Amino acid sequence: MNYDINSDIEILEFDEIDSTNTLCKELGKTFTKTILVSANSQISGRGRLGRSFISEKGKGIYASLLIKPNINILDVSKVTCVVGVCILETLKEYIKDDLYIKWVNDIYLNDKKISGILTESKISNGIVDYLVIGFGINLYHQIFPKDVNASSIEDQTKIIINKNELLSKIVNRIIKALDNINDDLYVNEFRKHLYYKNELVNLSVQGKEFVGRVIDINDSFELLVETSGSIKNITSGEILKLRKY
Ligand code: BTN
Repeated sequence: MNYDINSDIEILEFDEIDSTNTLCKELGKTFTKTILVSANSQISGRGRLGRSFISEKGKGIYASLLIKPNINILDVSKVTCVVGVCILETLKEYIKDDLYIKWVNDIYLNDKKISGILTESKISNGIVDYLVIGFGINLYHQIFPKDVNASSIEDQTKIIINKNELLSKIVNRIIKALDNINDDLYVNEFRKHLYYKNELVNLSVQGKEFVGRVIDINDSFELLVETSGSIKNITSGEILKLRKY
């Protein structure tokens, strides 16, 4: 297949796979160069917090990048957000409608999830051995189960994006971003596209649910939420839904 990727990477393509992230984690034990795994469909596409990611044959991008980045372990938590910005900025080359990033890893278009990111890492002796950066993008017409608030780019905009062209552009951006992870550009772009900004939402943090107002993110991509009159930094957790009164 045709790719236009600027770096020297190995590309593995599958018609069907269990999960591109799972294969990359396996390859991570012995890999010597950056590998991109892309599949036409996944049997067990994985999302954050043990969720699944619907990966129907030929309907989107299901890909993972296995890479040994030159980043500090303290910056690993920023990777998902920076990759979110890379995906969003690339999609903006095709889509004029507003795109948002729901902290921490989902991209929304017209209030529907169209993309998700799952970053996994192996760290030993204070060094990042590898990152597996997995992302799924719903490109083409697809009917999702009623309880899943997702859609595809084609269904929302009628735009049909060439899959390998988009994948190449995103991979090029991610590789560049990993070398500049602390560039203000990423945190500023994330801020500009923060979904639910100033809205009251239900949050789940360490198994506890509470209501808060999404204020912003800080320079470490932590979510700032106003709750019971004070501002909390959320480092990991989930915005469950918009709270309507
Ligand atoms: C989420 O929705 O929480 C993240 C979804 C990430 C899905 C992608 S698809 C390619 C890669 N392989 C997986 O099993 N998951 C990621």
